Amino acid sequence: MHKRNLLNLGITFALLSSTPFLGIQAQAQSQAQPQAQSSGAKLKIGFMLPATGTYAALGTAIDNGFRLYVAEQGGKIAGREIEYVRVDDESDPSKAADNVNKLIKRDNVDVIIGSVHSGVAMAMAKAAKESGTLLIVPNAGAVAVTGPMCAPNIFRSSFSNWQPGYAMGEVAAKKGHKRIVTITWKYAAGEETMKGFKDGFEKGGGAVIKDLTLPFPNVEFQALLTEIASLKPDAVFTFFAGAGAVKFVKDYAASGLKKSIPLYGSGFLTDGVLDAEGADADGILTTLHYADNLNFKRDQSFRLAYAKAYKLQPDVYAVQGYDAAQMLGIGLGATKGDPKNISDFAQALRKAKIDSPRGAFTLSSSHNPVQDIYLRRVVDKENVNEGVASKALADPGLGCKM
Ligand code: PHB
Repeated sequence: MHKRNLLNLGITFALLSSTPFLGIQAQAQSQAQPQAQSSGAKLKIGFMLPATGTYAALGTAIDNGFRLYVAEQGGKIAGREIEYVRVDDESDPSKAADNVNKLIKRDNVDVIIGSVHSGVAMAMAKAAKESGTLLIVPNAGAVAVTGPMCAPNIFRSSFSNWQPGYAMGEVAAKKGHKRIVTITWKYAAGEETMKGFKDGFEKGGGAVIKDLTLPFPNVEFQALLTEIASLKPDAVFTFFAGAGAVKFVKDYAASGLKKSIPLYGSGFLTDGVLDAEGADADGILTTLHYADNLNFKRDQSFRLAYAKAYKLQPDVYAVQGYDAAQMLGIGLGATKGDPKNISDFAQALRKAKIDSPRGAFTLSSSHNPVQDIYLRRVVDKENVNEGVASKALADPGLGCKM
């Protein structure tokens, strides 16, 4: 029997035999209660994630993953009960400074978790650096956050945009491709992913003959697809995510290009979106720090617990949310729950091996995951691991001084 079916059977059985997800729901309902500030006060966590727009589903998965880890710890982190405050950042950088300052100054949160969009995350990093509030970024790959903007109180549980791009650049060069066109949204995530790709691809002897872009979150791809057809590259490399990734994968197939020009992507192109992309995603190769069949015990138990709690398969965003909570637990474990003791918090995380479903990882000196990047192929609505493309890949962390 196919592995996915076996897993589904296991999940069905688990759902019939127990209902631990009720614990998570009950906990979610009690989260909004205001709490007095006292020594026994709850740890106030500010979630700044998208709840609307192109990246809405990504925000939900991060939130789910985070709360799953907390539920596994009996609803506490480092012995402290938790109160959540949530802001929908709409993946809108122009509102990000106001949104994060509300969390820091009005709500007086102890730690901020966010966000998905690189432009939003850079505004958050600026505010965190100025105020000294702990920030854990559970997705956005903005290179600056663990580069020039790095700080002792800023951490990332996800990746830098450069990492998956670089890994795929090497893969594409090894496949013998020489001329590649890139296409993405014109903002930090797209541009930095393309920079990583170019670094890996050119090192292997390839050339990027054209960088095509459109503004985020625009999905009018037609003119650009026509341009790709006339350029006739060996392959196309792309960064799109969330609802935009679904539209791109469908349009690429509908244009007929999929039959003649291989499509590669950073793994967000096909993560968390395969049900919506359907057969149009079949065969697409991507690189990412997660895959759907890693066969680690840690990953299998995570996937089962997640499916039990939410009746959904997890994706990379859920893993990053789960690991943000693990990292908070490690840091606060070393400070007896004190979020103001940044020095001990950071020291504990710099030494830590984080036991992630993706495989254990460490943090670089600029607080970005040093991690294996997998090559994955879409088969039957799964991102199937084809092996490690880049072992223990570290973002260079250029410009970070702390
Ligand atoms: C980003 O803006 O950094 C970003 C957004 C969505 C992703 C990955 C990166 O899936």
